[in-house]
Amino acid sequence: MIKRFGVITRDCAGINAALRAVVRTAATHQVEVFGVIRGYDGLIDGNLRPLDRRSVSGIINLGGTILKSARSERFLTEENQLQAIKTIEENKLDGLIVIGGNGSLTGAHLLATKYGVKVIGIPATIDNDVNMVDQCLGADTAVNVALDALDKIRDTATSLERIFVVEVMGRDCGYIAMKVSLAGGCEDVILPEQDFDLNEICREIEAGNAQGKVSWIVIVAEGKAKAQDVATAITLLTGLETRIAVLGHIQRGGRPTAVDRILAAKLGNAAVEALLSGETDKCVALKDEKIELIPLETAIKPKKLIFEPEYRLLKILS
Ligand code: F6P
Repeated sequence: MIKRFGVITRDCAGINAALRAVVRTAATHQVEVFGVIRGYDGLIDGNLRPLDRRSVSGIINLGGTILKSARSERFLTEENQLQAIKTIEENKLDGLIVIGGNGSLTGAHLLATKYGVKVIGIPATIDNDVNMVDQCLGADTAVNVALDALDKIRDTATSLERIFVVEVMGRDCGYIAMKVSLAGGCEDVILPEQDFDLNEICREIEAGNAQGKVSWIVIVAEGKAKAQDVATAITLLTGLETRIAVLGHIQRGGRPTAVDRILAAKLGNAAVEALLSGETDKCVALKDEKIELIPLETAIKPKKLIFEPEYRLLKILS
């Protein structure tokens, strides 16, 4: 029986809202919750703090995580994993809820399979690349933050009749790049999932230019190319002036959108219910308004995102 559990968080918009849902759902079952500070590092170091209903007041609208986070290299060693297990035992934690992307969920799967810890995951990453999960927490906010910045860049691109190359986040995944380029009415997008031809992009720019089209926005996912390199190549090949913008970490922060807050409420609640009902080594996801439990082993496998249809649409509309 679960009387007390810990929560570990990664960082993106919607995580605080999920934490609130987790703590308050647990409170309705008279179950105690301990927040782990700085992700898996906090589990190794025994850095925990109790969370009650009041301690999660006023955080639903905050980006980031009030628990702080870290990419824990230390957790990769068995010595530190055993230290984390010691923390779990010493604090009498009967289970864990882990809120994060692939790295965090991989750690959760390891705790469940290697050490028998009861673990439920909540997928949260701006890259939206957790396998079998339609919508991860933080992804909607990230696209909207990028779109807001892009709309401002468009003002200058249009007024000054310029070519802009805008770099968005996504090391291995073009989710933000694809969505923001379609939502922002961009002329092209360079994605990790597909090949691109700079000569072809330049030919289109020149053809458009000849017909009086004078402003262009090309989106680049950071994992595929650098905005500066693409812009330099376009100038070299076309002789036209270019400007770049690298949006960077603004995309991981900011107030969560309504979509992310509602998703956080549902997933946070469902994760606690799953843990209390004896489920483990799974993550919660929402499909057609129903909660699904996906084995972590499946969720942490690489996700193949298909962007061809949206890319074709972008090209028709640009
Ligand atoms: O995995 C999410 C993500 O934001 C990627 O889009 C990005 O490439 C990476 O994390 C950046 O990681 P860090 O904040 O550790 O530099």
